[in-house]
Amino acid sequence: MPSFTRIASKAELPDEGEAREFNLGEKMICIANVNGEITAMDNVCLHRGGPLGQGVIEGDKIVCPWHGWQYVAKTGEAAHNPAAKLAIYLIKVEGDDVLVEI
Ligand code: FES
Repeated sequence: MPSFTRIASKAELPDEGEAREFNLGEKMICIANVNGEITAMDNVCLHRGGPLGQGVIEGDKIVCPWHGWQYVAKTGEAAHNPAAKLAIYLIKVEGDDVLVEI
């Protein structure tokens, strides 16, 4: 059953218009700040495994730094093919802690 787990402190969150990658156990999670809204999705691009948290934000999408695949931050869907979809996670801030449901 999913439960909320601490992934970062509030101060570590990316600034608006940026993404960042975080370790959560054996997983890497991409946390993005799109127009002030914080989202969390798998960090591994479905193309060839690029690190999305090292990518840039364009509009409402995270752009993979390796070959430019774009993912809608809120849904995890690849912009060119919505059937290609990364897992997304609920995320919340409690005090100074950032928690994701995983
Ligand atoms: S690995 Fe992400 S676009 Fe190729």
